[in-house]
Amino acid sequence: MTVSTQPLPEDPRTNPTTDPHWWRQAAVYQIYPRSFSDANGDGLGDLPGVTSKVPYLSALGVDAVWPSPFYPSALADGGYDVDDYRNVDPRLGSLDDFDDMAAALHGAGIKLIVDIVPNHSSNRHAWFQEALAAPKGSPARSRYIFRDGTGPGGSLPPSDWQSVFGGSAWEQVPDGQWYLHLFAAEQPDFNWENPEVREEFLSTLRFWSDRGVDGFRIDVAHALAKDLTEPLASSSDLSPEGEGTDGGHPFWDRDEVHEIYAEWRKLFNEYDPPRTAVAEAWVHASRRGRYASPDGLGQAFNFDLLQADFDAGRFRQIIAANLEQAAATGASSTWVLSNHDVVRHATRYGLPPAPTGSAKGRDGKDWVLSGGTEPALDRGLGLRRARAATLLMLALPGSAYLYQGEELGLHEVAEIPDAERQDPTFYRSPGVDKGRDGCRVPLPWTPEGPSFGFGAGTAHLPQPEQFGPSSVSRQEQDPDSTLNFYRRALEFRGKQQGAEELDWIGSADTVLHFRRPGGWQSITNFGTEPVALPEGSVLHSSAALDGSLLPPDTTAWLA
Ligand code: NOJ
Repeated sequence: MTVSTQPLPEDPRTNPTTDPHWWRQAAVYQIYPRSFSDANGDGLGDLPGVTSKVPYLSALGVDAVWPSPFYPSALADGGYDVDDYRNVDPRLGSLDDFDDMAAALHGAGIKLIVDIVPNHSSNRHAWFQEALAAPKGSPARSRYIFRDGTGPGGSLPPSDWQSVFGGSAWEQVPDGQWYLHLFAAEQPDFNWENPEVREEFLSTLRFWSDRGVDGFRIDVAHALAKDLTEPLASSSDLSPEGEGTDGGHPFWDRDEVHEIYAEWRKLFNEYDPPRTAVAEAWVHASRRGRYASPDGLGQAFNFDLLQADFDAGRFRQIIAANLEQAAATGASSTWVLSNHDVVRHATRYGLPPAPTGSAKGRDGKDWVLSGGTEPALDRGLGLRRARAATLLMLALPGSAYLYQGEELGLHEVAEIPDAERQDPTFYRSPGVDKGRDGCRVPLPWTPEGPSFGFGAGTAHLPQPEQFGPSSVSRQEQDPDSTLNFYRRALEFRGKQQGAEELDWIGSADTVLHFRRPGGWQSITNFGTEPVALPEGSVLHSSAALDGSLLPPDTTAWLA
């Protein structure tokens, strides 16, 4: 971590840190803005709410903040359906509020990463409205992907492709044509072969870069390039998302997508320090490095730990493979245990493993929560393992991406009434997949109050009673709370970061032990019996130690 000692420049939007490598080992905190803090009491979190919590973020000790989309949106997909890429949703504030938020973060030495959604806009975007009003074959339609249908009178979709959220990936418009939407019907896919689309996004990247943002998170980075040469292949002949290895899929992970990012990189490098970017790319691990190339986006999410069971062998394999890949590309590795799309890790680790042969979601646990209940959740075990996994992750070389609420040890909220669910995956499945609302429930800041201190009004998703004891102000008073555990870990991590190296110590089926340069050691006991702690003085631990023994499901740091 690099913390500038230079005085703040006159315009606090200009980040004082000029280190071009600030991102390599940063702890990045993801904010889901509509559920973080509601300053105006309308039940939706907003940008002034984020600004008011900058002291909290500073005390937490994160290096950067990544808010999920805050742009104008009908919220058909939690804001990933963008109406206007260069504005703020009026319910969340204004561009002035954005500037205030950026200034407050930068004033506290915290970087700002914004979320760019280039694969699709919302169906309310001016360009899509224009396309609907324009005839077949018009320039306005060519910014999106329109096709004639098949079957009698073109009444059937152009292909059998399924949307990621369920149902057909094609939607028919009144004149009979169909448009492609890999996600919800309210999210039409752009046609990236159209130079206007390319220019538009370069302008958007410049707009936010000029406004002082430090980097970008690129949504569905692996889907922009498409080859829709007819006849369109049947989905049964296509490899599933994340499994293709030859770049030959019509829309996932095509090689040409990197031409787009090479252009973006030139733009990023015009700034000082260069703007950073991290790809959200659910691709085969062997192809992830292409997104992380220094000539491209520079970094790519590795979701391997997030998909893994709490298992020493699996963790070691994932860590070794990703560090090797990072070394080969020149990027630093990324680590993620939770985000706004998956079941929170405290809950995942407290659930029994999925039965062999069951359909697993991206987080591996959809089957358990699909009933909207928690049949066998062991909350205590889940949190204990989550703290152990987090401490291990924070000792790894590379950037750690944290998701709001994990520092409070929050569990997934399963008991949301169906009528209050918002996620399109729930409506398009329909109802089979309970969706992602359970990890997006507004944060509890105080033990009481109309929305546990989230705001003065009723939170837009219902908060469960157990949020009270997990609230920030309650945890601040408890030295052993998960919040104070994160604060100490991040503070120590910030001081210790050295070269991006790690040496494994010993090998055991149920213990992972490694040393970072400077002598910082991390040891995790994944087994069921206590193990002896190595030589050294204990710096931090995820649970109380038992004398010189490391209990099960516990990580300790030693010097
Ligand atoms: C990935 C985002 O993380 C997710 O929340 C969103 O639904 C899809 N991309 C579509 O934009």
